Amino acid sequence: MEQDGVARRIIAAIKEQIHSGAYRPGDRLPSTRAFAAEWGASRTTVTAAYNQLDAEGYLIIRHGTRAVVAPGLERKSGEAPVATISPRNLSAFAQRLLTLPPTALAQPARIADFRYGDLSGADFPVLAWRRASNKAILRRPARLRYGDPQGSSVLRNALQAYLWRARGISCAPDQIVIVNGSQQGLDLCARLLLDPGDPFVIENPGYLLARHAFVAVGGIALPVSVDTDGLRTDQLPPARLAYVTPSHQFPLGGVLSATRRRSLLAWATGVGAYVVEDDYDGEYRHDISPIPPLQALDADSVIYVGTLSKTLSPTLRLGYLVVPAGLRRAFSEAKRLTDRHAPMLEQDVLADLLASGAYERHVRSIRRKSAERRGILLQALTDHLGHRVTIAGAETGLHVVAWMNGIAAAREPTLIAAARAAGIGLYPVSPLYDPGGPRPKTAGFILGYAGLDADALRRGVAVLATILTEHR
Ligand SMILES: Cc1ncc(COP(=O)(O)O)c(C=O)c1O
Repeated sequence: MEQDGVARRIIAAIKEQIHSGAYRPGDRLPSTRAFAAEWGASRTTVTAAYNQLDAEGYLIIRHGTRAVVAPGLERKSGEAPVATISPRNLSAFAQRLLTLPPTALAQPARIADFRYGDLSGADFPVLAWRRASNKAILRRPARLRYGDPQGSSVLRNALQAYLWRARGISCAPDQIVIVNGSQQGLDLCARLLLDPGDPFVIENPGYLLARHAFVAVGGIALPVSVDTDGLRTDQLPPARLAYVTPSHQFPLGGVLSATRRRSLLAWATGVGAYVVEDDYDGEYRHDISPIPPLQALDADSVIYVGTLSKTLSPTLRLGYLVVPAGLRRAFSEAKRLTDRHAPMLEQDVLADLLASGAYERHVRSIRRKSAERRGILLQALTDHLGHRVTIAGAETGLHVVAWMNGIAAAREPTLIAAARAAGIGLYPVSPLYDPGGPRPKTAGFILGYAGLDADALRRGVAVLATILTEHR
């Protein structure tokens, strides 16, 4: 009797998986042995359930092979899903999240996808990573146990030395928190430093995922405009926090001038705010000499956010914060509650790369390659578009902004669709402006070049030029 009940539940669960589209025609089901072990049922029960589903036409069972889902059972497009779950009792946080614009992940375009943030898989330091990874696995401790929420002390020591050498940051390893990419760092800043209704300063235009992290906790965005010298610090209103990208303003590319750095920090001290300094691509300087980060000027007001997403891979989800000593415990506890700590194996690998010098060798190499790609992109833009385009923010970073002279911003969607049809991925600047304020009148696109080779860059710009000519 009991067995029948289990078989019925198995039958219902598999049908549900098929109806919801989780199992599609042709998909293989687990072996009866594996299914029985997972469900704590006997193999006889699972075999009986599979046979019943075979008899009803849901599965096809052939002797000696695993059962597969029968053809013709896919959900027709437009057909309502079996069960629609309507959210109930959502928190204010969840409701705020649902008001944010959704982000779709499009497939990469065929010829050249200028999506900013992608790196080339060919640039990943495979050998060095594999070597360090093998070492880390072999050196795993006798006991696999949770680590320090701030991250491994070996990695934090290695990072502290690197940040001093490469960025002039002087901090104690204890001030470093290893996070799963800058995004987690921004989320922790939002939750620890803002209450609902608290105003925060955000660059306009600026980084949407930072804005969203702060808005999601109930922060009120106070957009402050930017120019070629970065944030207009003469326009700073009182706020609890300011988010800035001083090395390379995202997206327009201005570098925050020394005078503005000082006035931003004076403002922070004056109003008692923290400054979140996102140094996301500070490794890439092309035509300018290094400028010390804000953190090096005021370690008590600045939370420095760094990432490995622009040098190794955005898929690794590794980043770090340097927090004022007084905030250390709050960040450590918040990180523990979020996910205990960043994955240990990757931390060990990164620590090894930093200590052996392999990371800095890789940064030098990828910086050289990025400079070449940038040169190729700029040359192609000059050759194909000349005065039809105005380039901004090319001195640092891994993207440029191209303003399409004489083409209205309202044409952006048409150009994007035409470009996609021709195999080019184009991404507009306008959505990065404050939704309540004025937007640029001219069409503008962010052209990321780090993920593209010379051929793709040249072909991409050539196709773009043709599209612009057709749509002029
Ligand atoms: C302004 C800015 N900050 C940070 C990042 C990196 O984010 P993460 O470290 O979460 O990958 C990006 C990536 O595109 C960015 O544009």
